[in-house]
Amino acid sequence: MTPSDYEFLRKLLKERSGLDLSTDKQYLVESRLVPLARKVGLSGISELVQKMKSGSAEAVTADVVEAMTTNETFFFRDKTPFDHLKDTMMPALLQARTARRSLRIWCAASSTGQEPYSIAMCLKELGPSLAGWKLDILATDLSQGVLEKSRAGIFSQFEVQRGLPIQLLVKYFSQVGDMWQLNADIRAMVQHRQLNLLQDFAHLGTFDIIFCRNVLIYFDQDTKITIFERLARVIEGDGFMVLGAAESVVGISDVFKPHPERRGLYRPNGVRPAKPIIGGAAPQLAKAIAAAG
Ligand SMILES: C[S@@+](CC[C@H](N)C(=O)[O-])C[C@H]1O[C@@H](n2cnc3c(N)ncnc32)[C@H](O)[C@@H]1O
Repeated sequence: MTPSDYEFLRKLLKERSGLDLSTDKQYLVESRLVPLARKVGLSGISELVQKMKSGSAEAVTADVVEAMTTNETFFFRDKTPFDHLKDTMMPALLQARTARRSLRIWCAASSTGQEPYSIAMCLKELGPSLAGWKLDILATDLSQGVLEKSRAGIFSQFEVQRGLPIQLLVKYFSQVGDMWQLNADIRAMVQHRQLNLLQDFAHLGTFDIIFCRNVLIYFDQDTKITIFERLARVIEGDGFMVLGAAESVVGISDVFKPHPERRGLYRPNGVRPAKPIIGGAAPQLAKAIAAAG
């Protein structure tokens, strides 16, 4: 891979997925894209780049973007967010939404499904307190490949051994050969949709809870600011947002504030973000629009 191939790929990935590669990640690009190049009958990365530059390789470009995403996930990852769901978010929302009896939860960057299905199992475990409630869990991701796996709800022995308590495995999964499939009632609680967080998502409507974990970490500061502002526009005023263990709004945006006692949990700050930003517009644009009224 030549330095100009690497620059081309860095720019492409930043624009398409938000991935912010530093200048020294050639090894990562090679380890992910050489096998892809071979799979599509090309000699290596330089030929892959040539093909993309020719402008007639949209499918290959999408494969390159997918190959460069990190899909690492597991059931009940980090545990505490699910304790907060059970002990903090749900009690507050069950009270606040008594009249409406419905809740919308969005799992942005849901990968292969372990996170939205962990949420679904948590809710199911709450039992009779949610009887008669309409519960929507929306799982979205950039990658069609991970969404397909998530829809199927089929996991390997290795995957169910990572984070999933044995009693929940027994209760909510059925063994299919050497794999485990989530039961239909849990699968039916999760709707799937392809969505790039760099693009507008106002059409999704508003949510009571947003899990947006372990994805913003790959983005640069301006992209994070823009996404936090958009998230603030689709969350209810008394809703909750959950970030990954290595992520925070602090020092980046004031549209959310950290929960005073629950690490990783954020609430809308009541700061009305500027009018909707289209596409990957920079926060400066939002400020300019806000200033113009
Ligand atoms: C490391 S996984 C995190 C999965 C899950 N949220 C968790 O914490 O276990 C990151 C996911 O973000 C997705 N992703 C990366 N860039 C994205 C983008 N621009 N829009 C939406 N999803 C994206 C990847 O496809 C991947 O499935």
